[in-house]
Amino acid sequence: MPDADRKTFNDLLFELRYERSRDDLWPMLDRLYGGHPGYPRFRTALDKALRSAADARPDDLRLLDLKRDLEPDWFQRPDMAGYVFYIDRFCGHLRHVPEKLDYLRDLGISYVHFMPCLKPRKGDNDGGYSVMDYGAINPLYGTMEDFEAATRACRSRGISVCVDLVLNHTAKEHAWAKKARKGDPKYADYYLMFEDDTLPKQYEKTLVEVFPDNAPGNFTWYEDCGRWVWTTFNEHQWDLNWANPQVFLEMTKVMLSLANKGVDILRFDAVAFMWKRMGTRCQSEPECHMLLQALRAACRIVAPAVIHLEEAIVGPAEMLPYLGRGEHDGKEGNLAYHNSLMVQFWSSLAARDTQLMSYVLDTHFPPTLTNATYATYLRCHDDIGWAVTDEDAASVGIDGRLHRAFLSDFYEGVFPGSFAKGELFQFNPETRDKRISGTCASLAGLERALVAGDDEATDRAIDRILMGHALIASFGGIPLVYMGDEVGLLNDYGYVDYPPHAHDSRWLHRPLMDWDHVAAAAAGPETAAGRILAGMKDILSRRAQVPEFHAKNPTEVLHTGNSTLFAFARRAPTGSVVCVYNFSEVWTALPWSWLTQHGVTKRHELLSDTVIDDSGSGALPLPPLARVWLR
Ligand code: GLC
Repeated sequence: MPDADRKTFNDLLFELRYERSRDDLWPMLDRLYGGHPGYPRFRTALDKALRSAADARPDDLRLLDLKRDLEPDWFQRPDMAGYVFYIDRFCGHLRHVPEKLDYLRDLGISYVHFMPCLKPRKGDNDGGYSVMDYGAINPLYGTMEDFEAATRACRSRGISVCVDLVLNHTAKEHAWAKKARKGDPKYADYYLMFEDDTLPKQYEKTLVEVFPDNAPGNFTWYEDCGRWVWTTFNEHQWDLNWANPQVFLEMTKVMLSLANKGVDILRFDAVAFMWKRMGTRCQSEPECHMLLQALRAACRIVAPAVIHLEEAIVGPAEMLPYLGRGEHDGKEGNLAYHNSLMVQFWSSLAARDTQLMSYVLDTHFPPTLTNATYATYLRCHDDIGWAVTDEDAASVGIDGRLHRAFLSDFYEGVFPGSFAKGELFQFNPETRDKRISGTCASLAGLERALVAGDDEATDRAIDRILMGHALIASFGGIPLVYMGDEVGLLNDYGYVDYPPHAHDSRWLHRPLMDWDHVAAAAAGPETAAGRILAGMKDILSRRAQVPEFHAKNPTEVLHTGNSTLFAFARRAPTGSVVCVYNFSEVWTALPWSWLTQHGVTKRHELLSDTVIDDSGSGALPLPPLARVWLR
């Protein structure tokens, strides 16, 4: 196409997309910022920013925009599976990412999450979540050119790239923060700064502590500038003032510039904290959802190929709105972490009882979502917080506080008979909450089993790991495999020897990728690691062939009457797949009459690709930690 025609065509597309999303964008911003004196200027500046980002969008990404506008369910399909890693820990440098793509494709991966890779502050930077420059890549990982080359290599292999965009705070070393600290009023208004502690004290009355051990309180006093600064997380992470439209403008520019570098999925970090309101916990305030809808709309105008993953690790009722509920239906996050599924998996494993899990997943989650789905996972780079409410626990006759305490003890490994090995992460003396760190394999019992040389315990640990991955591959959403879990990497106790990490037990489960271990796993299919690796590949490749697992198909939790089983059906127009998981180490069975009643017609078990002959027993036998997908 001649250049002039192409320009006209691009402009036309931009206008069409602007029309499509105009009403998702401006009404939100009018409500958020309409009363701000700088609002008219902001409107003009934002409009200009959208147009210039659209003009700068590279041709190959424009093509992707067209493709994904035509196939808006691209991320909901059963062949989507993610893999999450730190660049340095996985392959050393961005330049080495392409060398690892065969490995990832072979595993069944179509989405990679490069953990925080923008330039962080030096020293302790909260695993990269303390960003000092949103326009640069972490120099340890490479340059922006290396980054673009890596995204291009992934794209050419059909792999989408997810990166973090930390919206709630910047490092105190960010240029804006430095100017604010020097007293520049423009930049002081980018943050939440207070001359004395009157307001901080009032806010503190209702705030919760995120890192009570090593960063108690939500405000920090800086002698040099004579100000208190809002620092929800660590002292070096300064919360941004999203009530200032200038912050929205700056972050929108950052978002669109990352989109134009070839990012497919933007993971918005810690979104629940973006809006502050006196007298509340300052989490998940309605304005958070207005901001996120407006960011989504801006992205759909300029870069519709890009989707948003919102990180809100909160209870079910509070999490769902991040996937767009009520007025935001279909207009907010495309993905959000299914924290409850993760917590309930570990809870049921320890209790050998699925009643709480079935209750929570049945009661709180809708069968489908609009333009959205879950990111399902067993482990990530963060700790596990026992997000079980007292009310939910009471509904199935258990005491929430005691159950949470049991889970912490169990996964720390101090509960008698526990198979797990983990460490505590943050202890809040006020709420008595203890969170847990540890790799999937160590928490699932592999570490203890291998140390003891206990073959039966090893078998059980492998079954727990594979059952969990079969669960997240079938429930609905994009399953995310956390680096190393596919070969059962164990806890890395060495983190305590490195001072910037020593205070943060989350580094226990952020090991270096052990490529010798991977090679041994590939060469030794009978070893524990080899069995996990083969099992994972199998799960992901089978999942890709089950159209019923498309996220558009409702997930219906089923009640078997057997408290060790968790079951659900995926209801597709063509028929159902019923998935059953045995959370105990004992054999059990499920009557065929029950399975038939819930939609199993062919007795085709999809994980083993066999038709099950019931030998006249009338029931499907389920071995310890069984996982079955029945069509
Ligand atoms: C998110 C990240 C976590 C980080 C926090 C503060 O929750 O997942 O690792 O500590 O945000 O940025």
